[in-house]
Amino acid sequence: MSDTLNRREFVMGGAAVGLAAAGAKQPKMDAPGVITGRRARPMVISDASGIEYTNGGPQNAVEKAFEMIAGGGDVLDAVVAGVNIPELDPTEAGIGYGGLPNERGVVQLDSCCMHGPKRQAGGVAALEGVRTPSLVAKAVMEYTDHHLLVGPGAQEFARNMGFTVEDDLNTENSRALWLEWKRRVDPNHYLDPAERTRRGYEAALAMMREGLIDQNHFWGTISCNGINAAGDICGVTTTSGLAWKIPGRAGDSPILGAGLYVDNDVGAAGSTGRGEANLYNLSSYLIVEKMRGGMSPKDAGLAALRRIKDNTVEARLLNSRGLPAFDVRFFVLNKKGDYAGVAMYGASERTFAICTENGAEAVPLEGLLDGSPLD
Ligand code: GLY
Repeated sequence: MSDTLNRREFVMGGAAVGLAAAGAKQPKMDAPGVITGRRARPMVISDASGIEYTNGGPQNAVEKAFEMIAGGGDVLDAVVAGVNIPELDPTEAGIGYGGLPNERGVVQLDSCCMHGPKRQAGGVAALEGVRTPSLVAKAVMEYTDHHLLVGPGAQEFARNMGFTVEDDLNTENSRALWLEWKRRVDPNHYLDPAERTRRGYEAALAMMREGLIDQNHFWGTISCNGINAAGDICGVTTTSGLAWKIPGRAGDSPILGAGLYVDNDVGAAGSTGRGEANLYNLSSYLIVEKMRGGMSPKDAGLAALRRIKDNTVEARLLNSRGLPAFDVRFFVLNKKGDYAGVAMYGASERTFAICTENGAEAVPLEGLLDGSPLD
C-alpha cells in the first residue's frame, strides 16, 4: 500500500474500478472517489492458514485476495491467488506442496472453486504432481464442460494445460511425518480393514495429542471466500486432504456443496476439517440454503455443525465424552458481506482469518462445543 493512499481510499477507489469494469450502474458520488449505496462491504474470509502463511513473501492469502478485490479484480482470481500462497508454502503441511501425503507417501491434492456471478465451477480430486490444485480446478471450470476431474485424468489435463507436473510434492517434513505414522501402524493392517481403520486413526490421534502434528494439518485445508463491492461472491477450497489417506480417497474439498458452495444471490460457505462429515451432510450447501431461508452466517454455520454432530454416531468417531472426535470449521459470508467463522470446537486460540479495508485479522472461531475433539 502506498504511503500516499490510505487503506480506506484504496478500497473505495478499487470498488469504483470494479463496478465500472463490471459495467454496473455507477452509484451516486458524494465526492470523487467516494461511493455511497454500496450493496456490500468488500471482504475476504478464510481459515487461519489464510493469515498464518506468506511463503516468505510480504502478504498472506487474505491480504492478497483483498488487495485484488479492492483493486477491481475478479473475485475468483483474487481468492485463488490468495490460496496459491499457502499452497506453495513448504512450511504449511496441509495444503498443496508439502501437504501430508497419503498412506503410500504420495501427496494427492483436492480443490474446487465456484464463480458466483458466472454460475461456473470446477474441481480436481486426487491430483498428483501439481503444487497449485486450485489453479487446475479453475482451469477445469474455464476450459472444460465438466465440474470435476480426478486422479490421472486430472493430472493429464493439468499437463495439457501447461501446468508443471512434478514427480513428488513431499517436503522433508511431510515425508518424515509420513514415515513416523507408517512406523506406528501395524504393517499387517490391510488384512483386517476394520482394524486398519481403527489403528490408523488412533495412531494419528496419538500423534496429534503428542503435538507431533497439528490438527489443522491432519485435515489441513484452506478455504477462502470473497465478495466485492458489487456483491459478487466467489470461493475456493484447496487441500492435500486427510493425512495418510487411502490412495484415491477424495474428501469434501473438491466436491461442490460439501467443502464449498457459492450462490451469488445468497452467499458462500467453505470448510476445513473432517471431509467425510461434510460429504455425508453436504454441509456447505446446507449452510447456503439456511442463509437463503433467512439465517445469519453464524446461525447457518452452527446449524450445519449440529447436523454433523447428530449424524456422528459411530463409536470410532466419538471421543471419551461421546462427542465428535474431529473438528469441522466453516467460513461463511452472505451477500451483504456479513460473515462468521464457526467450528465444532471453539476456543479463543482457534481462529479464522478475515481481511477488510482495516487489514488482515485473526478472529476467534465461534464453537458449537467446548473443549477439544481429542478429550
Ligand atoms: N477437509 C479436508 C479433507 O477432509 O480432505
